[in-house]
Amino acid sequence: MDSPGPRAPDAFEWAAHRATFPIFRSSIYFNTCSLGALSTRVEAAVGRFLTLWHEHGASAWYGPWWDTMGALRTRCAQAIGAEPDEIALFPSITAALTAVASAFEYRDRPRVVMSRLEFPTTVYQWLAKRGAGVEPTILPGGDGLTMRVDAYAAATDRRTQLVVASHVYFTSGYVQDLGAMSAIAHAHGALCVIDAYQGTGQLPTDVHACGVDFLVTGGLKWLLGGPGVAFLYVRRALHDRLHPNDVGWFAHRDQFAFRTDAFEPADDARRFEGGTPSVAALYAADAGLSVVQELGIDRLRARQLDLVGDLIDRLRAVGLRPRVPTDLSGHAGIVTVPVPDPSAVVTALRQRRIIVDSRPGVVRLSPYFYNTIEDNRAVCAALREALAAPAPAS
Ligand SMILES: Cc1ncc(COP(=O)(O)O)c(C=O)c1O
Repeated sequence: MDSPGPRAPDAFEWAAHRATFPIFRSSIYFNTCSLGALSTRVEAAVGRFLTLWHEHGASAWYGPWWDTMGALRTRCAQAIGAEPDEIALFPSITAALTAVASAFEYRDRPRVVMSRLEFPTTVYQWLAKRGAGVEPTILPGGDGLTMRVDAYAAATDRRTQLVVASHVYFTSGYVQDLGAMSAIAHAHGALCVIDAYQGTGQLPTDVHACGVDFLVTGGLKWLLGGPGVAFLYVRRALHDRLHPNDVGWFAHRDQFAFRTDAFEPADDARRFEGGTPSVAALYAADAGLSVVQELGIDRLRARQLDLVGDLIDRLRAVGLRPRVPTDLSGHAGIVTVPVPDPSAVVTALRQRRIIVDSRPGVVRLSPYFYNTIEDNRAVCAALREALAAPAPAS
């Protein structure tokens, strides 16, 4: 007889998980793609950090705090199919990308291929290096929803250093094909950088199988860990080939030797790291990631597809036109709805204790496992009312 596989949480268990996110006691939260909701587990983990600080002062560093850094690298590696020595820790995506960008010379390969649909910080990283010889190539955003693989292929050549793409595009929810991105880069001797901040937690990811060279992600959104921790994956074969020059003492092979005569980079991905992390944020990130891991990314994806499909149907039923593809298998949990005055709608919904956000021209909703069909019903009714109400006199 087949052994039973992992059992999917039933409706009651999803409700039990929702109950550990106190925001739902007073509000309906639909903005995980900006900031994941705070769970009681994450709150308790930050409390533990404070207690250790109280009780042990600096000696907490050399015990539990240091161990938490290691545990976090391991958890992140598990979430994306990597090994812990391929993970470096940073305070933000920007800091991680800066370390990556600092590992290249750009003289023979000045071109960096990106798209207009990236999150701005990703593009600014290389736009700001024009004076240092970088040739940023920004692909037009097409329909504003999808970014076709062919566009990256056409723009990549033997002068390309990096192909940079999102796993999930932050305004559209479109899911990029990571295997195709790395194949395009590698066909021309270039490397591929993936911004997976909107992907990890929402989508199963296997960095080894898809062959990407770098992947940045972090705790803020779908990993439920709040601000302050980002992760950089660096493919192991690149470790000894690359010498980032934007580094700090955490990147040294023998950090606690405190040598100042020479910089010897760590053998693993830590060679990209900078300075002292925010330890409270490490505790929060570790606890948030543990929730996601326990639920299982495949289960989360299945539940989210159900919620997103239902939300789209209900939005259409109230006369709205969500910008989503017909086939949701290439789409993540970000649903944008064009409206005439997005920030007025966000404010109107906030008055009804429904939290959504806006981007130029659209209201953005991002359901996650803790949302329910009842939340979908409520947000659609509130949107209908807010859009029917006359605009306040200015
Ligand atoms: C895809 C993506 N990348 C990067 C960022 C932000 O990066 P940073 O950590 O540098 O603020 C965001 C949003 O916060 C994002 O949605």
